[in-house]
Amino acid sequence: MPPTSGSARSGASGRAVVWASAVTALGGLLFGYDTGVVSGALLFLQNDFGHLGAFQKELVTSLLLVGAAVGALGAGRIADRIGRRPTVLATAVVFVVGVLGAAASPAFAFLVCMRFVIGLAVGSASMVVPMYIGEVAPPAYRGALVSFNQLAITGGILVSYLTDYWLSSSQNWRLMFGLAAIPAALLFAGMLFQSESPQWLVAHGSVDEARRVLERLRPPGTVDDELAELHDNAERRVSRRDLRTGRLRGLVVLGVLMAVFQQVTGINTVIYYAPTLLHAAGVGSSASLLANVGNGAVNVAMTIVAIRLLDRVGRRTLLLAGTSGMAVGLVAIAVTFLVGGDSLRGATAGVAIAALLVYTGSFAIGLGPVFWLLISEIYPANIRASAMSVATIANWLANFVVTVSFLTLLSAISNAGTFLLFGVLTLVALVYFARRVPETKGMRLADIEEQVERSGFGGRQRHAA
Ligand code: BGC
Repeated sequence: MPPTSGSARSGASGRAVVWASAVTALGGLLFGYDTGVVSGALLFLQNDFGHLGAFQKELVTSLLLVGAAVGALGAGRIADRIGRRPTVLATAVVFVVGVLGAAASPAFAFLVCMRFVIGLAVGSASMVVPMYIGEVAPPAYRGALVSFNQLAITGGILVSYLTDYWLSSSQNWRLMFGLAAIPAALLFAGMLFQSESPQWLVAHGSVDEARRVLERLRPPGTVDDELAELHDNAERRVSRRDLRTGRLRGLVVLGVLMAVFQQVTGINTVIYYAPTLLHAAGVGSSASLLANVGNGAVNVAMTIVAIRLLDRVGRRTLLLAGTSGMAVGLVAIAVTFLVGGDSLRGATAGVAIAALLVYTGSFAIGLGPVFWLLISEIYPANIRASAMSVATIANWLANFVVTVSFLTLLSAISNAGTFLLFGVLTLVALVYFARRVPETKGMRLADIEEQVERSGFGGRQRHAA
């Protein structure tokens, strides 16, 4: 946690950083809420739009993911050009327009368009929030602060489940969507009082302004050194072309592969479809919903554990431990389906639910937060936004592909086969992470950048910093 000891001034600067991170993380809350809420809303859309086929349901669910990929594409450039803070403000406006539009939808096609609009904001928030927090956080607490974002995502998913449950008696799907306008408005209002990231200011020649921001966010006596580093970073020009050709290519591949592994190891099939799956396998409907809320709660709780550990034990250790746990959970789920067939009763149902919780908890302690954290750390400052947007687009596209093909996979290769496939992909991810993922714990972004310059961070990684 940020410093509480030392002078009153350093306590104040710690609080200012935590406050800036918490406000921005409302973008993460909206990411989680808007992706989670649709599962409950889907049940009641027919009250207004008549019967909806599977394809229409898929459309309203997954167009958000396509919108998110487009949003991430645009947000990288915009954040570089106009700054991180205005990009978050614009994102908040798009959120408000999208969720109120969805809530007021006069026709199904309009709702589908609004889900795309919400997706634009989700995709933008998903990259600009960790980037902004990473740039305002001091190195010693950067892991925890950037991962406020992941905590907010998991919190948003859980709140969406509870809201769906709460509103299910009135079948008010419009309110389910519309309630997200509240955190979106808070994000906008809160961001008005935040400053631009010092790194962006220095890169755009506003050194005096960057000094004023740092004086608010850092303990006295550290500002000059940091300003000099930010200046060095800004001088070291890396061009967008280097992302494709130079040493940085290895880092782009790392970000993209981590993004793809975060999705093809199945997290959102569990987040979006767990109750459907358990119910279809014979688990009672209230037990399925309870297991789902339990799963959401474990996701939040283990993210809190990760926040406490990321800056102590390091990103790599948590990533490797978490990914191993995910593999164990997935193989156990596959075995229960293998033993119990596609219908689970008694002990096999209990084991399947326990394995599900192990899987989600392990994701929450490793790959969930570590992916977003690392992509906010490993890229040089002046191309950070573009590089992060490449990894973020890969994440949303992989999410889309897995989400739309999951139900088909289940019928093609059975429940056991599908989870075994996720298990194998998780083992491949584990080997890749062990060989390629660097440790960035406690390092200044400037030092990470220097190390990238020297080694490209692309080779085998054995060390912990
Ligand atoms: C992933 C999301 C996922 C969430 C679950 C995030 O890190 O990017 O796709 O829904 O974690 O907690």
